[in-house]
Amino acid sequence: MKPKLIVCVKQRSQTSDSCAGRGSLALADQLQQGIRKKGLNIDLEKVHCLGECHQGPNMRLAPGGEFFHGVEAKDIAMIIDKAGDFFIKNPP
Ligand code: FES
Repeated sequence: MKPKLIVCVKQRSQTSDSCAGRGSLALADQLQQGIRKKGLNIDLEKVHCLGECHQGPNMRLAPGGEFFHGVEAKDIAMIIDKAGDFFIKNPP
């Protein structure tokens, strides 16, 4: 399985207790741009819930990689660096 970064983009109406309600769509765009800029061969997959809704925005490296909770824009560079390391350790 090719390594990927999974980002929850679930939006619930009338509550902020969802990842998109806390800005995950914009974060996914920033991550995608950063991955492209670095030339990393990692797919970004948008999913609708990772089961940790109260801690969002949530994302994780797959298969079997690190989980990131409460992600903010300041975390983007760190996550991209970790994604690059993850790819080296888990080639397709
Ligand atoms: S809404 Fe994102 S983990 Fe459930």
